[in-house]
Amino acid sequence: MTKISSKDASIRNLELCKIAPVIPVLIIEDISSARDLGEALVAGGLPVLEVTLRTKCALQAITEMSKIKGGIVGAGTLITYNDVKNAVDAGATFGVAPGATDKLIDACEEAGLPLLAGASSASEAMALLEKGYSVQKFFPAEAAGGAAFIKSLSSPLPQITFCPTGGISQKNAVNYLDSSNVECVGGSWVAPKEAISNRDWQKIEDLAKDAVRELS
Ligand code: 3PG
Repeated sequence: MTKISSKDASIRNLELCKIAPVIPVLIIEDISSARDLGEALVAGGLPVLEVTLRTKCALQAITEMSKIKGGIVGAGTLITYNDVKNAVDAGATFGVAPGATDKLIDACEEAGLPLLAGASSASEAMALLEKGYSVQKFFPAEAAGGAAFIKSLSSPLPQITFCPTGGISQKNAVNYLDSSNVECVGGSWVAPKEAISNRDWQKIEDLAKDAVRELS
C-alpha cells in the first residue's frame, strides 16, 4: 500500500462517517459467524464495519467480511505497529484506535491505512488536529462526558468532526447525532453478543434497520 497523509485519512474518514449513522463495533469470537454477521448488518443498512482486534479470530474475520458485497471493513482496537501491519494484511481498509500515539499514527500513515484515532479531552483532540486529523473518535463517549461534552467542543473546535463510541445505544445515540460536530456514532448494540451466539441474524438485521430508520 502507498502512504497516506493525515489530511487524506481525514477526508476518507469523513466519507466513511457519512455513509450510515452507526458503525457497528464487532467482537467476533467464532469465525464461522463472521460472514453471516457482516451480511446481516450490511443488509440492514450499516455497511461500515469495525472488527475489533480483541479475539483470536479477529484478523481472519476481517478477511472473511471483506468478501461481503457492499461492506467496508476496518480494524478496531489498533494499539501497536504489528496490529496495523496485520490489519492491512488481513484486508482492513480503515483503522480505529481507542486513543492515539505517535507510533500508531506513523504506522498507519506508512501502511496507507486511514486512522480514526481516539480523543477524550480538548487537549487530545487539539493534539490530533495539530497532526492533521480533523475526524476523530470520541472515546469512551458516555464515561468521558457524553453528548453534553461533545456538544461543548463544537463552539471552540468546530473544525473537528467526531465519531463518539463507548456506551452508546439506540436510545442515547440521537443526543450525539444532534450535535453539529458529530457525523456518526460507533456501537456494539446493533450486534449483541447473545444474538451472535444464537446466530440470530434476522434480529441483527432488524437492529441495523431500526438504527438506520431512527437515526439517519
Ligand atoms: C468498544 O471499544 O468496545 C466500543 O467503544 C464499543 O463500545 P460499546 O460496546 O459500549 O458500544
